[in-house]
Amino acid sequence: MTDAASPEPGHDCPLCPRLHDFIAAWREREPGWFNAPVPTFLPPEGEGSVRLLIVGLAPGLRGANRTGRPFTGDFAGDLLYGTLIAQGLARGEFKARPDDGLELVGTAITNAVRCVPPENKPVGAEIATCRTFLRPTIARFPNLRAILTLGSIAHQSTVRALGERVAALPFRHGGRQEAGGIALFSSYHCSRYNTNTGVLTQEMFVSVFKEIAAFLKNQTQAP
Ligand code: URA
Repeated sequence: MTDAASPEPGHDCPLCPRLHDFIAAWREREPGWFNAPVPTFLPPEGEGSVRLLIVGLAPGLRGANRTGRPFTGDFAGDLLYGTLIAQGLARGEFKARPDDGLELVGTAITNAVRCVPPENKPVGAEIATCRTFLRPTIARFPNLRAILTLGSIAHQSTVRALGERVAALPFRHGGRQEAGGIALFSSYHCSRYNTNTGVLTQEMFVSVFKEIAAFLKNQTQAP
């Protein structure tokens, strides 16, 4: 069963028939894989410690859909977790396995769409339906100060989840805007495609995180 007010879809969430059927087919093909909506990755200190929420697009087929942890098992995770560790937003070693012991620090990671979409492309109705979970995910962190969206789809869905107009808060790599008392940072998605084509370099990605880390530090020092 899927509870509409819950931040996490049920294991067999039926709300997007196309994604439900796609996962069902992969359960048959790869019964050892996770093959379900991928839950938000939380720090061990719990919801109250989260000041930064990172919103990705959707699980990769052989990444998060296989392992059950966002950005774990595909290239995007190597860049994301390496950068998080370097900026003090995660600790331990990232070994691309959910049992690698990596821990987030003051940070949570979720996806705009929780189920793996065919061809990595969720359709508009699926993105809108999965906001049913993005909204309460944002609301569950009482000390949230910042959100980083990865890519324009995650950005637009987050803006809508925050009750703002997309036209008023357009996506821009390296952008920082205010939305409902939260600093909304945005970056190009750290996908292999974007890094291979030079749309996003490691330097560009690191610089977004440096800005976020400085912002969070400043928040801590503010009276
Ligand atoms: N893995 C995820 O969990 N999300 C993405 O957006 C990409 C890869």
